[in-house]
Formats: sequence, C-alpha cells, structure tokens
Amino acid sequence: MSKKLKSLVTVGLGATVCFYGYNLYHGDYRLWSRHVIPIIHLMYPDAEKSHIVAITAARVGLVPRIPEDKDIKPILKTKLWNIEFDNPVGLAAGFDKNGEAIKSLSGFGFGFLEIGTVTPEPQKGNFLPRVFRLSKDRAVINRYGFNNYGHDRMETNLSRQESIIDKQNIIVGLNLGANKLTEDKIQDYIIGLQRFHVKNEIKYFVINISSPNTPNLRNLEGKDQLNKLLDRVLRVKKELEQKNQLHKPLLVKFSPDLNDDQINDIGKIMLKYSNETQTHGQIDGMIISNTTITRPADLKSPARLVKEEGGLSGPPLRKLSTEMIRKMYRLTNGSIPIIGVGGIETGLDAYEKIKAGASMVQLYTSMIYFGPPIVREVKYELAYMLAKDGFKNVNDAIGADFKSLKN
Ligand SMILES: Cc1cc2nc3c(=O)[nH]c(=O)nc-3n(C[C@H](O)[C@H](O)[C@H](O)COP(=O)(O)O)c2cc1C
Repeated sequence: MSKKLKSLVTVGLGATVCFYGYNLYHGDYRLWSRHVIPIIHLMYPDAEKSHIVAITAARVGLVPRIPEDKDIKPILKTKLWNIEFDNPVGLAAGFDKNGEAIKSLSGFGFGFLEIGTVTPEPQKGNFLPRVFRLSKDRAVINRYGFNNYGHDRMETNLSRQESIIDKQNIIVGLNLGANKLTEDKIQDYIIGLQRFHVKNEIKYFVINISSPNTPNLRNLEGKDQLNKLLDRVLRVKKELEQKNQLHKPLLVKFSPDLNDDQINDIGKIMLKYSNETQTHGQIDGMIISNTTITRPADLKSPARLVKEEGGLSGPPLRKLSTEMIRKMYRLTNGSIPIIGVGGIETGLDAYEKIKAGASMVQLYTSMIYFGPPIVREVKYELAYMLAKDGFKNVNDAIGADFKSLKN
C-alpha cells in the first residue's frame, strides 16, 4: 500500500471513529437503538449483568450526555408542589437503586430522577437469575426483591454528590421500601423518612407498597392497612415538617393489579389524607403504577420467559397503568397529583397518560430497549403533540380527556 493510500485510510478510519464517537456520546437515537443496544444485549444475555454494567458506566461517567433541548423547554417546563421541573419525564425507581449515578443519569435529559427502592438494612434480594428480557414484547420481568445497599450507603452516596445535585439543580426523589424480614413494615418507611427528610439532595419521597417481589408488601394497599400506614407515616411527616421547617412531598406508589373496589377504596383514603390536619401532614401524590403480576394473553415472547415469576413492565403494562391513572384521577377529582408510569416508549404514550390525569411521567423499561436517547425522543414527540393540539404548556393537558368530555 502506498504511503498516500495508507494515510488516506488512516484519516478515513479516524473520521469514522470520530463520527460514531460523537453520535454515540450525544445520544443518536438510531445508532443506539439499532446498533449499540442489540450489541449490548448480545454481549450480556443476562439482563442483570447489563444493568450492572450500565450503572457502573453511569457511575464513572462513561455514558452519553444528551444536549439540552432549548426549543421544547417552554412547553415542557412544569411546576408541581412548588418545585420547578425542566420537563415532566422522569426516571422510574429501580434503575439506580443506591443513588450512585445521579449526575450521569440527569445528563440523559430527565426532568427528575427517582432513586431506590432503598430499605433500612442492606439486603441481597432474591436468588439469581431474577431479571428477564422479553425482547419480542420489549418488556421485562423482574423479581429483584429490593436488592440494595441500605440507608447508610444511600446517605454516603448522596453526600458525595451533594454539590453537583445542588449546582445542577437535579431533582431527586427517594423511593423507600421495607426489609423482607421486618415484621412492622410501616416502621421501615418511617425510619426512611426520618433519616432523609432533612437531606437537601432529596426533594420528594415515595412509599413503595406495590413491589410484587417482597412477600406481603402489597397487603399494605388494603383498606385497613393503608389507613394505618398513612395515619402513622403522616403523623411523622407533620412532626418532621415542624421540626425541620421543610415541606417535602410524600407520594404512595401503587400496583396496577387492583380491582375496581380496591381502587375506589384507595381513592377515598387518599382524599381523606390529602389535607393537612392538626395531627397529620398531607399526602401529596400517587405513582401509578408499579409492575404487574398479570400476563396479558397476547405476549409474543416464549412461554418459558412469560412463565417467570415477578413483575412485568414495558408496553404490555401500558394500558393497565393508563386506565388506572384515569380511574384514580376521576375518583379524586384531579385534586391529588399523579405520576404516570408503565410502558412509555413514545411521546404519544406519555401524552396519553397526561391526558388521562398524570401530572408527570416516568419510564424505565424503554431505556433497556432503546438506550438513553429514548428520553429525548419521548420529550420531542410529547412537545410536538402538545403544540399540535394547541396546548401552550404541558400543565394545560393534565386530565384533558375529562375536560373534552365536559365540553
Ligand atoms: C428491573 C426493574 C427493577 C425495578 N425496581 C423497582 C424498585 O426497586 N422500586 C420501584 O418502586 N419500582 C421498581 N421498578 C418498577 C418501575 O419503577 C416502573 O414502575 C415499572 O417498571 C413500569 O415502568 P416501565 O414500563 O417504564 O418500566 C422496577 C422495574 C424494573 C424493570
């Protein structure tokens, strides 16, 4: 090969590497969904391993930083509980269980991040394997069982990132859970609230009573238990608010597997606790929903995967969660903010949840199949749809399905 040809090939190769490197780093959607993710799934057929790799890469900053979208900012900017959010698309709980990679994950363009679920004591979770990709349905079944490093490590991780969270104004919510062996599960949530209430890095709290992978946890969604839970937790919330002179929103995360009677009961209980009293703080919102233990009949993945125990997430969950948002919004007259989650992989999916009554949304599983650029795709499409329907801001679209019914 002549010297000239050699240098031409070198320059060509260099330019290609730079081109791909640039697009990889800036989150080119096609590159990620068509090439990078399939390669990752091929390299790591075990879904838990690829999760560990993703979190490790995010912790050390080896992940894309997706440029800000100035043109869609005004329509997506929103305010809830007196907190300003750049956009209403958040990361759902379970991806960063220990709050290790907050800066990198915020670089994906999320409007807020929910970290956890964290339990007071560290715990290993269920036996492996415990996460399964149902690729044909772009879904996941997980039965992690709250594997996490516990409150101590969470606190250390948060303190380490305090200045970045503060400087970059990253909105972080903390999802609280209960240890598997704790008998008085409610006390575990209280311990979490007491421990982190004063932490500047945390802007809201979630009581997660809907994981299907901790035995008996979902019992707390029952009428009597939920009343007891809210009574105890909201008393502590009031005390903390008075002591710390801080109001931090408290939400409850529900399962999508509740029947209409249970949903009705929950709606009434949430309304009862939605106002502050002499003795209680108020409940500030709901997250709808966690994963489902049902298996829709039209799943396309092999039966051996579909049969795995655990919570199903991704598109097969989408309708179930959207319909539950709609029911809960109607029952509570839109008076209690809802964060909608379940199967969001396009702007339309997010828009449907917002029109059904969600104030903001979250996603998780779509990031497994499309990579970090999915966040920008969802935001752009959502902004486009809002504008097309004449909405000036995402706030105006919350519960729009009900308003159009009235007119
Ligand atoms: C692998 C995996 C782990 C999860 N872990 C948690 C968790 O620890 N706490 C929690 O509240 N939800 C957890 N979730 C549920 C998600 O937060 C979300 O509610 C659910 O996956 C539906 O959203 P999606 O369809 O966008 O994934 C987990 C989901 C997945 C896929």
